[in-house]
Amino acid sequence: MEITALLEIVDVSRHFDDFVALDKVSLRIEAGEFFTLLGPSGCGKTTLLRLLAGFDQPDGGDILLDDKSIISAPPEQRPLHTIFQNYALFPHMTVAENIGFPLRMAGCAKKDIQARVSEALENVRLPDKARHYPDALSGGQKQRIAIARALVNRPRLLLLDEPLSALDAKLREQMQIELINLQKDIGITFIYVTHDQGEALALSHRIAVMDQGRIVQVDVPERLYGFPNSRFVADFIGKCNLLEGNVREQQGNSVTVELDGLGPVHVCRSETKCVAGSRCALTLRPEKIRIAANVSPTEDESHFSGSVHDMLYLGDVTVYIVALSNGLLLEALLANSASGRTNFFEVGDSVEVAWSCDAGHLVLE
Ligand SMILES: Nc1ncnc2c1ncn2[C@@H]1O[C@H](COP(=O)(O)OP(=O)(O)OP(=O)(O)O)[C@@H](O)[C@H]1O
Ligand SMILES: [Mg+2]
Repeated sequence: MEITALLEIVDVSRHFDDFVALDKVSLRIEAGEFFTLLGPSGCGKTTLLRLLAGFDQPDGGDILLDDKSIISAPPEQRPLHTIFQNYALFPHMTVAENIGFPLRMAGCAKKDIQARVSEALENVRLPDKARHYPDALSGGQKQRIAIARALVNRPRLLLLDEPLSALDAKLREQMQIELINLQKDIGITFIYVTHDQGEALALSHRIAVMDQGRIVQVDVPERLYGFPNSRFVADFIGKCNLLEGNVREQQGNSVTVELDGLGPVHVCRSETKCVAGSRCALTLRPEKIRIAANVSPTEDESHFSGSVHDMLYLGDVTVYIVALSNGLLLEALLANSASGRTNFFEVGDSVEVAWSCDAGHLVLE
């Protein structure tokens, strides 16, 4: 028997005059998932979230919750709640009144409201803030109250549109951990929107990458990072070297690629179906590249020589930009874990780079 998705988005489109903001978007989201929509600014993430919430109507397609269309249901009748970047708390109400607001609107008894407000405050670990006004809270606390208010009427789905983007880096990381734990504890399905790939990788069970109104890949974080299906995804998810070339031949999952200006390299355990002669790019993450004055490559490794073009000391690691003989700039990482060791090379030094045949992944698009 096929498992039915909690939420099913089927061929949903949204046009603004001639502009296609969403182009036949289809997605299935399972109950209990932390699902993220990730893509650059303007790719249509908020537009899609607004359609799910019922603040806007699609031009085509359908949205099903538990197998039933919700497209004609007004926002207040959809069992979901949306959290935005700006906390949208009522400044003249205390924290408890803010959280209890949706329940008062729904006509709940005062006693029940109190109990559920306390429970929601426990969920976001701010039980002692009930009587405070929003002005007396930090940005992170305000966002936790907004989340508590969203949870208080026990939605099936929580839609979060860049909820942490107004917070500084340290607080954001702390809130990310809290969000992961909260979602695990309460088990509500989260649909999370961000343009920050690091945040998406850290938080999500699955990620849908969007580009110009389309879904271009849906996968678990490790697969998206290790096996992007296009140059766009490879480049958008983390740092990635793209080495352009032509497929020379494929035998099973072993591929020989003629890299432009560099010559042949061997790619083993390839998951990409290639046709000889077709254009491709080898995607290589900086941490997969070995760099040394003399790399002494093993049989399984490709290696090239170059020179240090630039370097960037980041504390825990140093990024070396290596110029290869064809002019390509390759980014490689060296961990500064050895004590007292931070500068392995200087700009202008001759170096060699090497990578294993299964270090890279081929993309055709
Ligand atoms: N009401 C509207 N009228 C006209 N164009 C719109 C409208 N709403 C959104 N758009 C356009 O649709 C595109 C997608 O917008 P959307 O807000 O969904 O992007 P986003 O992915 O959320 O971006 P960001 O990361 O910047 O929030 C943008 O080009 C935007 O200008
Ligand atoms: Mg947006």
